[in-house]
Amino acid sequence: MDSLLIKGGVPLHGEVNISGAKNAVLPIMAATLLTSEPCVIRRVPNLSDVRFMGQILNWLGAQVRFEGEVVHVRAKKIKGAGDYDLIRKMRGSICIMGPLLGRLRKARVSLPGGCVIGARPINLHLAGLEQLGAQIQQAHGYIEAVAPQGLRGTTIRFERITVTGTEDLIMAAVLARGETVIENAAREPEVADLADLLVKMGAQIEGAGTATIRIQGVARLHGAEHAIIADRIEAGTFLVAAAITGGDLTVTGCVPEHNGALITKLQAAGAEVTEVDRSTLRVRSEGGLRSVDVSTAEYPGFATDLQAQYMALMTQAEGIAIITETIFENRFMHAQELARMGANIRLEGNQAIVAGRKELTGAGVIASDLRASASLVLAALVARGETVIDRVYHIDRGYEKIEGKLAGVGAQIRRLD
Ligand code: EPZ
Repeated sequence: MDSLLIKGGVPLHGEVNISGAKNAVLPIMAATLLTSEPCVIRRVPNLSDVRFMGQILNWLGAQVRFEGEVVHVRAKKIKGAGDYDLIRKMRGSICIMGPLLGRLRKARVSLPGGCVIGARPINLHLAGLEQLGAQIQQAHGYIEAVAPQGLRGTTIRFERITVTGTEDLIMAAVLARGETVIENAAREPEVADLADLLVKMGAQIEGAGTATIRIQGVARLHGAEHAIIADRIEAGTFLVAAAITGGDLTVTGCVPEHNGALITKLQAAGAEVTEVDRSTLRVRSEGGLRSVDVSTAEYPGFATDLQAQYMALMTQAEGIAIITETIFENRFMHAQELARMGANIRLEGNQAIVAGRKELTGAGVIASDLRASASLVLAALVARGETVIDRVYHIDRGYEKIEGKLAGVGAQIRRLD
């Protein structure tokens, strides 16, 4: 199993380019199941989750071809049952259910496996599909959904905002009879990116990116080409990397407004963040950061996927920062590993109290999940001495060439295989 070796203490300088968004490409690859015609998806990041989704589509019968940053998918003839083990291993794959049900009127998928950051049930996905007319059964670890007469549009109000739940139901509703209205929908940019592709495929969707989405069902969809939006979580991670190391980074190929909540916090902490142009941000910090409290929330609030990285930053800020996690019930696994490096963090329920500006020292630490591993990389960049981060397969799920990009702006980092 690979590890990362990082020698801390170097302020990062230079330019880093952002890849396409993991959390947009997964539902977008699933959406290609909605048509028998070829789809071309561009700016596809080279991530293990993406290759996994490719295997899942292939298993269903689609032809999938990766060519650099492009994936060609043709789901000419597909079956409705996904591979048990493949789907169980990657939660994001649950969003093949909507497209399969919408196109084939049946879907059989394994229940997603457990996740360290929370229970992550899919009850809201299933309740929404039932409202669209699906009959759903669960047995032997599978979800079996059928709609022999086809799905029919209706109004669905989520009791809680769910990102993949919104995406799954949009993809079920685009081929349903009549109009579907999704209320209290997720407003994440990845939802709007999915809708952009679907509209190019001939779907009728209004309001994606807002809390109310209207979908007018159509008889069929055709092929399309689409480029994935920038990964705002990767961009946010590099913004924090510049601030924590006291560096000067220019982050290109991003969408500044997608990181509005983080930028506000970085500026309040004392980092200088400027929008160079519509796809470029510059971050400078000379240290001397102040502690600033944060509470995670659905978009456009502060992203839970940036909470761990922000916690690493607050270990280097003057004062006490209270970090409140409101989305997932167990997303502080990184705190104990940061403490192993010398951080002073107290956990109380869904809050972490970070007493800042503690010198971190290099240590052997273990990544527990994707964003926790990113926070350990950030802490290691500022720690005295060397840090070895084990189980970096987590980071490969969501960050393309992370050690190459960091080394390109001065970090002393290499992979130990
Ligand atoms: C998406 O997960 C992202 N994953 C996550 O990113 C991200 O953390 C999350 O949204 C929140 O922003 C992808 O897009 C592939 P949710 P998702 O459904 O859709 C509860 C990363 O690091 N809930 O919005 O699975 C759920 O348990 C990953 O890139 C139900 O109770 O998250 C959670 O507490 C991690 N029932 C909350 O809602 C449901 O049916 C929000 O979950 C669905 C969700």
